[in-house]
Amino acid sequence: MLEQELKKVVKLTAHTQRNWDVSVPFPQPHTKKIVDFATDIPSKNGINYFDLVVVTDNTIKRELYDCTNGYTTDGGDQKNSQVLAPLVLVWLNRFQKALGPNYEFRGKTDEYHQEKMELKEKTLNDYVFLTEQLVNMHIGLSSGYANIMAGSIGYKTGFCKCFSDHPKMMHTLGIDKRVELMLGIGEANETLKANIHHEDAFEYGTTIREPVKIINL
Ligand SMILES: Cc1cc2nc3c(=O)[nH]c(=O)nc-3n(C[C@H](O)[C@H](O)[C@H](O)COP(=O)(O)O)c2cc1C
Repeated sequence: MLEQELKKVVKLTAHTQRNWDVSVPFPQPHTKKIVDFATDIPSKNGINYFDLVVVTDNTIKRELYDCTNGYTTDGGDQKNSQVLAPLVLVWLNRFQKALGPNYEFRGKTDEYHQEKMELKEKTLNDYVFLTEQLVNMHIGLSSGYANIMAGSIGYKTGFCKCFSDHPKMMHTLGIDKRVELMLGIGEANETLKANIHHEDAFEYGTTIREPVKIINL
């Protein structure tokens, strides 16, 4: 990819998109491109750390949206409209069950129990290190890849980590694994600024990002 194109991708994907043009369905070939890219990432020890759920169904998106109370304002909690995008990707932790009410830990997944010996051999790490740090490291990589690929096809993106109702998300997705991260992808509603909800005109805040300290040695 040319450097100029990469700069455009960064511009397209750097800020959280909170409104969408939902008039046309998301093209399947674009979904495939993004999903292939997001799953073809480097892996520590060759382990697969997450499942990826690909959501285009509006009923499921609406139910997920109802689980995203978490943006707090003086007027109370606000839901996160990133997940009303035409395409929504959901990363699941393969080794932890969905959290219970009040974020309680509900234990290890069947897949963890089945693969326990192999995982221990490959990672030499404890369960917490595996399922918190390593899983989320790989989800960070994967979602970063998805973000870049989506931007390179011209889409806007919005990450969502704030979800309050884990039991409902588990029910909605029909999978008893912990949701770690969601990413909305699609065309923006061009009549609105990026930080305005396309349905109720609520304006979310934006922040100025702190610079990263670069240490040249
Ligand atoms: C991994 C990740 C998860 C995020 N999750 C949420 C979220 O759940 N809710 C939210 O309001 N913003 C979320 N954001 C958006 C940031 O908070 C966002 O950067 C902030 O709104 C700054 O405004 P800007 O996007 O206009 O730069 C997330 C961003 C990232 C990178």
